[in-house]
Amino acid sequence: MEKFNQSEVSEFILLGLTSSQHIQFLLFPLFSIIDVATVLGDLLIVVTVYSTPNLNTPMYFLLGNLSVVDMTLASFATPKMIVNLVKKHKTISFAGCFTQIFLLHLLGGVEMVLLVSMAYDSYVAICKPLHYMTIMNKKVCVSLVEASLFSGLLHSGLQIPFVVNLPFCGPNVLDSIYCNLPMVTKLACIHTYIVQIVIVANSGMISLSCFMILLISYSLILITIKNHTSTGQSKAQSNLMAHITVVILFYGPCIFIYIWPLSNHSVDKFFAIFYTIVTPILNPIIYTLRNREMMSAMKKLWSVFGAPNK
Ligand SMILES: *[C@@H]1O[C@H](CO)[C@@H](O)[C@H](O)[C@H]1NC(C)=O
Repeated sequence: MEKFNQSEVSEFILLGLTSSQHIQFLLFPLFSIIDVATVLGDLLIVVTVYSTPNLNTPMYFLLGNLSVVDMTLASFATPKMIVNLVKKHKTISFAGCFTQIFLLHLLGGVEMVLLVSMAYDSYVAICKPLHYMTIMNKKVCVSLVEASLFSGLLHSGLQIPFVVNLPFCGPNVLDSIYCNLPMVTKLACIHTYIVQIVIVANSGMISLSCFMILLISYSLILITIKNHTSTGQSKAQSNLMAHITVVILFYGPCIFIYIWPLSNHSVDKFFAIFYTIVTPILNPIIYTLRNREMMSAMKKLWSVFGAPNK
């Protein structure tokens, strides 16, 4: 029994993106550049939000935290994935694998609830503008961020103990670019049907319930906008389109990976790349380049710090 409980697998082997080493060598610089740009873009957002009194609003408070989450993802979770592209032996230690799983699910869970909070913020701003300041006070904003952290921890912490204690005794090859929880579970030497159901139920529940709340709040917002089209709301509308774009790009791949796990490995890999490398860079792009307030705040910052002789 003692022996049975002991994991004999000390590392996992990842098969990577494709069997073509050329393609992976070509993708390596591309993904590295995107990853560095993500970190810098998010850092710029955080600095701008902190140093611009104008942006001291609930929306930017939440956006700042969203950027911190994306920055953490891009600096701790994806680099290992990107480096593995060019390694001949793409291995990851047992502990490293579970750290990666923990981080991806923690940050994914936090990001989902933050996106819901931002949707709620837009809903209050557009549908209850007169009560905005009282509803979205500082305390509520901080609670929303804390709730998102708590949900991420709960989401990640509830499923990993099930998997990390499974007996892994032999097969250790993952046809993936990262430690994908459903795939790792399948490598255990016992029937893991129940554990797989727990995983799909957990990830499915959090993503579907967040998605439903988002759908409802954005529907209410769109209905409200349609009924009272006034010029003063165009700013709110442009912010809204940015939010909806981010939400679709975030949830599309996520639902694909977890609601239909292991359906098709190449589709799965494509979505994994999209989700971990492409989506995080879209937040800074969508929220800064499409946002006049943010752009002018950055220009001001630039004239203060970047061009002192101007
Ligand atoms: C994120 O939220 C915390 C409160 O939970 C706050 O103190 C912090 O300033 C926020 N970060 C940004 C970058 O807005």
